[in-house]
Amino acid sequence: DKGGWPSFMAKEISEEPDAVANTLRGRIDADGQVVIPELNGLDELFVDINRVVVIACGTAAYAGQTAKYALEKWAGIPVDVELSHEFRYREPVITPQTLVVSISQSGETMDTLMAVKYASEKGAKTLSICNTQGATIPRESDAVVYTHAGPEVAVASTKAFVAQITALYLFALHLARVRGTQSAEVLAEQSAELLAVPAKIATILEESGVVEELARWMSDSRAVLFLGRHVGFPIALEGALKLKELAYIHAEGFAAGELKHGPIALIEPGQPVFVVVPSPRGSAMLHSKVVSNIQEIRARGAKIIAIAEEGDAAVLPFADTVIRIPLAAPLFEPLLAVIPLQIFAMELAIAKGLDVDQPRNLAKSVTVE
Ligand code: BG6
Repeated sequence: DKGGWPSFMAKEISEEPDAVANTLRGRIDADGQVVIPELNGLDELFVDINRVVVIACGTAAYAGQTAKYALEKWAGIPVDVELSHEFRYREPVITPQTLVVSISQSGETMDTLMAVKYASEKGAKTLSICNTQGATIPRESDAVVYTHAGPEVAVASTKAFVAQITALYLFALHLARVRGTQSAEVLAEQSAELLAVPAKIATILEESGVVEELARWMSDSRAVLFLGRHVGFPIALEGALKLKELAYIHAEGFAAGELKHGPIALIEPGQPVFVVVPSPRGSAMLHSKVVSNIQEIRARGAKIIAIAEEGDAAVLPFADTVIRIPLAAPLFEPLLAVIPLQIFAMELAIAKGLDVDQPRNLAKSVTVE
């Protein structure tokens, strides 16, 4: 039931504040400490590990790539993110000190399931981040943290993605506490940031008119590029994936720092480029480097669409369009910056007359290898 929305995707985007809030519910106590009831009594899975390997496919893999930054920063543990189908056909170094975290909305993706089984056989500890109660992947894992996004029907994932990042951040804070890598005060500051996310997403949804208009003007684009840096990098990849999946437009995401090592050759007059701009309050240096990237491509004729926090005036002289997101601590910006990119891809697909819920050639859950 689309509940009065024109598509499941539009409905699911509107549910993103709830997807995050419901994933947080009951998991942060009155002192701001993360308490995940499903992980009670399972500390022994996490105390002796020396490495985390995240496995997933598609959008779920980008949620993993986003959470890598928080896991490393808060829990002080090395994190590698791998595509499930690449992981299993190498000889990955997996030991009983490896924690393999799988991410899957459906909990049935065959490539991810087989990678989890492989990791278990090698003696790894396994944790599933899953949106579907009782699905196969959580049943095959030592532990599970469910996302509570509610059923996701549209093939292209939206609300499950923000719920996955939320659950991974909760897990990163849990791991930091178990491993003693952060003070209770730091942990409480991060959980307060998480609790503030749903209202910020709601603000972006209310102000999506700029993005809708942009999608209509850009409906005949042949190629769109996305740049991001740090946690904005996986968001650039996800923005490009959404556009490919929904609007069948050739789209590529790049790490902004990589621009001069190749992708800048693609820039010609009129080339649209989305740039996820990091907050100047996080790292002034990263911010100014991304602003310089914008200047470099603008000088070569690119049309710049900047996604930047409220009040960031440095982008104004160079951007053709600025999409604003509310202020958040840097690690939390992905949960905001991805929303306009999802809406953009959906609106552009609608402008092209495409079915946004059932894109051609794709299935919601791929249960074959
Ligand atoms: C793809 C879906 O086939 O599988 C994507 O089209 C999804 O939207 C990916 O991100 C992974 O699916 P799951 O269920 O394992 O998260």
